[in-house]
Amino acid sequence: MAMTGVLRPGHAQMRVLDLEESVKFYSDVVGLVETGRDKQGRVYFKAWDERDHNSLIIRQADKPGLDFFAFKVDSKATLEKLDADLIAFGVKTERIPAGELLETGERVRFPIPTGHVIELYAEKTDVGNGQPYVNPEAWIPAAEHGIAPTRFDHGLLYGPDIDGAREIFEKVLGFYVVERIVLEDGKTDLAIWLSCSIKAHDIAMVRHPEPGKLHHVSFLLESWEKVLRAADLMSINRVKIDIGPTRHGVTRGTTIYAFDPSGNRFETFCGGTSGYPDQQPIKWTMEDVGRGIFYHDRALNDTFLSVVT
Ligand SMILES: [Fe+2]
Repeated sequence: MAMTGVLRPGHAQMRVLDLEESVKFYSDVVGLVETGRDKQGRVYFKAWDERDHNSLIIRQADKPGLDFFAFKVDSKATLEKLDADLIAFGVKTERIPAGELLETGERVRFPIPTGHVIELYAEKTDVGNGQPYVNPEAWIPAAEHGIAPTRFDHGLLYGPDIDGAREIFEKVLGFYVVERIVLEDGKTDLAIWLSCSIKAHDIAMVRHPEPGKLHHVSFLLESWEKVLRAADLMSINRVKIDIGPTRHGVTRGTTIYAFDPSGNRFETFCGGTSGYPDQQPIKWTMEDVGRGIFYHDRALNDTFLSVVT
């Protein structure tokens, strides 16, 4: 499959209640690499194996949650085309100049009907992964510092009009639905998992009355063993775990949900199916939704549908 258009989730900017406590948490417990701080006081991180300058940006605020979620596209020409396509589809877009985020090119920002702010961008400085581009090693010492995910993987957003958001992602941005949970009426989606690649999902959405809510951002680990190691590190560091280690039925990924010091949920995730745009979406029904979300418990926990930031 040729990778063109939208490539992958590129960055998320999140609000935290205590900046330095959160810097310590994302650096030492999650094991991300701090890559910069800007004049606004925002702090930038990347996972150790990512090459672009940043994938998680945090800023201090009164409330936790998500400011925006961004995808990298393959070229400036694609950025221009997708901006024009969004406008033609009736989406109001805005240009954020290059450099407003450190080491990041011009961004196209737009709202989606779930109440979230999405961005597209084509350029971000390649700072490398600590390895040369010629004859690299398999990993670097930072790969063992904290949980140490290899990359920022996906996000799950909660908001009201997931059908309207799906239309934008499918019809304009070239995503396809990999899996869905359908309500008792047999037609309304409670949740959708969308991919722009062959990943099990690049973004997911759950229907929820409040707009603009974050369920979790997810970081990729290389093995189930590393998910178990992450759980040990969460206990060692007294991190509040929501659920796990366990497996999702949807995507088949192995997982832990836990909370950062501000109450933002994050996931450490491994595996998952491969998606292809020619495959029909897998449907989950409400009588088996527990198994779909948490494959071993076969029941939703109290917080899954209610705790969001
Ligand atoms: Fe997830």
